Amino acid sequence: MTTLTPTVNPAALPQAGAHAPLPGGLPDPATLARLANEFFSTLPGNAGAPEVAAGSGAVGGVPSALPAAAPILASLSNPAPAGSPLAGPGGTGTGVPGLAPPQGKVPGANLAPGAPTHVLALGNRAPALAPHAAAANGLPDNAVAIAPALEPRVGGALLGVPQAYAAAEPAEPLPAAGSVAGARSPFYFTDSAGHGWQREAQEIVVPAHGLAAPETFGLPGDDALRALLTLNRPEQGAHDGPARYFLAGRNDTADTAPRTSAGGAREAAALRGAHPPFDVNAVRRDFPILQERVNGKPLVWFDNAATTHKPQAVIDRLAYFYAHENSNIHRAAHALAARATDAYEHARKTVQRFIGAASPEEIVFVRGTTEAINLIAKSWGVQNVGEGDEIVVSHLEHHANIVPWQQLAALKGAKLRVIPVDDSGQVLLDEYRKLLNDRTKIVSVTQVSNALGTVVPVQEIVELAHRAGAKALVDGAQSISHMRVDVQALDADFFVFSGHKIYGPTGIGVVYGKRDLLEAMPPWQGGGNMIQDVTFEKTVFHGAPARFEAGTGNIADAVGLGAALDYVSRIGIENIARYEHDLLAYATSVLAPVPGVRLVGTARDKASVLSFVLKGYTTEEVGQALSREGIAVRAGHHCAQPILRRFGLEATVRPSLAFYNTCAEVDALVAVVRGLAPRQ
Ligand code: ALA
Repeated sequence: MTTLTPTVNPAALPQAGAHAPLPGGLPDPATLARLANEFFSTLPGNAGAPEVAAGSGAVGGVPSALPAAAPILASLSNPAPAGSPLAGPGGTGTGVPGLAPPQGKVPGANLAPGAPTHVLALGNRAPALAPHAAAANGLPDNAVAIAPALEPRVGGALLGVPQAYAAAEPAEPLPAAGSVAGARSPFYFTDSAGHGWQREAQEIVVPAHGLAAPETFGLPGDDALRALLTLNRPEQGAHDGPARYFLAGRNDTADTAPRTSAGGAREAAALRGAHPPFDVNAVRRDFPILQERVNGKPLVWFDNAATTHKPQAVIDRLAYFYAHENSNIHRAAHALAARATDAYEHARKTVQRFIGAASPEEIVFVRGTTEAINLIAKSWGVQNVGEGDEIVVSHLEHHANIVPWQQLAALKGAKLRVIPVDDSGQVLLDEYRKLLNDRTKIVSVTQVSNALGTVVPVQEIVELAHRAGAKALVDGAQSISHMRVDVQALDADFFVFSGHKIYGPTGIGVVYGKRDLLEAMPPWQGGGNMIQDVTFEKTVFHGAPARFEAGTGNIADAVGLGAALDYVSRIGIENIARYEHDLLAYATSVLAPVPGVRLVGTARDKASVLSFVLKGYTTEEVGQALSREGIAVRAGHHCAQPILRRFGLEATVRPSLAFYNTCAEVDALVAVVRGLAPRQ
C-alpha cells in the first residue's frame, strides 16, 4: 500500500518545547496537540472558552469549564461524569472509575511521554488510539490518531457524532435563557428541553468524490494542515488512498491475502477502481467492539443479520441518558421527567423521518420485530380477521412472521397461505397473484430474507394486496440497515423493524402503522401510560401511539435507537447500500468457487447474506472452525425452518455482512472454508 510521508518544515513550526520530535520528522505528540489546539482555538466563532453542555460538569476536581485547549474536540466529546468508567486519560477524568486526576494534571496531559496509562489499554475507550490500519483518507495516519486523543472519546465521534441528536432536530430556536421552556416542550416544563444532549450540530459531510474529509473528524483539512505544518504530499496518484477503501480493514492485508479465484481477483481489481462511498477504516474506528480479539485473532463480525454492533455514538448516547436524563416519562412534573420524555419523543420523530412516515403518531415503540408483528396480529388481526379469511405470507418468512399469524388463524378459523419461491429463493409473483382473493385480509412479507438474503419485491406485493382489498405488512428487520425505506412510497399499511439490527440497542423496535389504521385498532395490552381515564366501570384509552405502549417502555434504548439512525443517516444509507452491494458481490465471487460449497439463495437481488453448506461438514463444524479464527457467523436454521426445508436443508452457515466489514475479512473467512474443503 502507498502511504503518504509527511515532511515538516521545522522553521514553520512553533517552538516544539521540551519533547523530542518523533522519528520521521514529526513533532512529538504534545507539540502536535498544542498545534491542533491553537488551530482550533482560532476558528471562526470560537473566540471564547467552549460552552459545556448542561450537566456535563467537572470531573474529579477539574473545573467544569474545560480549559481553552481543543475547544472543538471538547465540544464534540461528551465529558464523562465523575467516576464514570467512560472518563478517559486523554481529557476529563483518569479512566479509573472514581479516581480524580492527579493534582496539577490537566486534561490531555497524559498524552505526553510518560503518561501513566498505557496506550494499549485504551483500545476500547478510545478506538482512535488503538493500533489500526492507515486511515487511507489522505491524512497521515498518525495525525488522525493523535488529534482525536485530545479528547478521550472523540474516536466515537468520528462519524457517529453525538451531535446527531441536535442535528436531526428540525430547526427550532433554542428557548431563551430563563424562558419558560414549556412553550417548546409539550411535556410539563423543562429547562432547555431536548437540548441537554448537545447544543451544537456539526454536519458530517461525506464528499461525493469519496472519503470522508478530515474535517469530518473535527480535524483541519488538507489546506489548513499544509498551512499549519507545511506538509508536503509526495506526488502520487490522487486516488491511491481512496481507491483502496474497499480492500482496507483487517490489518490492511487485503492486497497480500491470497485470492481464492481468478474471478475474485478480477472482481477485486474492478472494485479497486471504484470510488469509495466512505472511509471504511474511519467507520471501523467508530465501533469499539471491532477491536476485540477472539481466540487470539481480530474479531471478524459476520453475524450482522442476527445483530449488529453499536457505534460509540450510540454507546455514548445511552450513557448520557442514564447520567443526565434518566426518568420515567409522560408523568411527574419534574425536570428529568421532561428531559427523558423529550429525548424519547425526539427518538420517535427520528424514526418517523428515517422511514418516511407522515407523522410521529404513526410510530409505536415495541421490543423488536417479533413483538411488533404480534401486536398487529393480536390487535388488528383479532379485530379484522374472521372465519374463512385468508392471511398470506411468503415461504421466506422468519418464524416471527409465521407463528403469530398461525395463532391468529387457529383462533379465528382463518387460513394461512404461502407464496412459493423459485430455486434462487425469489418469490413467484405469478403464484402470489393466484393466492389473492376477496377473503385475503392481510399480506405479511419480509423485505429481505434473513436466511437467504433475497430482496423481495415488496412494492409490487403491497400494490397487489391493495388491489385485492387486503392490508400489507412489510417486515423490515433485515432490510432496514441495508436500503432506503420510505413507508409512504411503499404504501405499506404496517412496517416493522428492530433497533438492534441497525446499530441500535436490543429490546427496542418499531411498528409503523398508517394513522387511521392505528387509531381504529384496539390496545393489545392494558396498563399505565396508555389510558386517559380509568374507573372500575370503564377505561378511556389514549390515541396512537400511546395506546400501544402500556407500562414503562424501553426509554433509554428508544433514545439509543434514535442515535443509531442519526449515525446511519450521517454516513448515508445509499452509501451503505452501495458498499455492501459491492462487498456481497465480492464475497459471492470468492466463496462460490470453493470446492464443496453450495450457496443457498442465489436470487439476483440480494442483501447482506451468504448462506451456504459445505460438503462433508455439519454447519456447526464450519461455524466452530471459523470461530477458532475469530470469525463469527450463524450456523443453524436461522429461525426460518420452512425456507431451509424448501431447499432440502435443516441448517446453513450464514455469514451476513455490514458496512464495517471488508474484503480482507471475507478473504479470511474463505481461507478457513477452503482449508476445510479437502475432507469431502
Ligand atoms: N432473526 C435473527 C437472525 O436471523 C435472530 O439471526
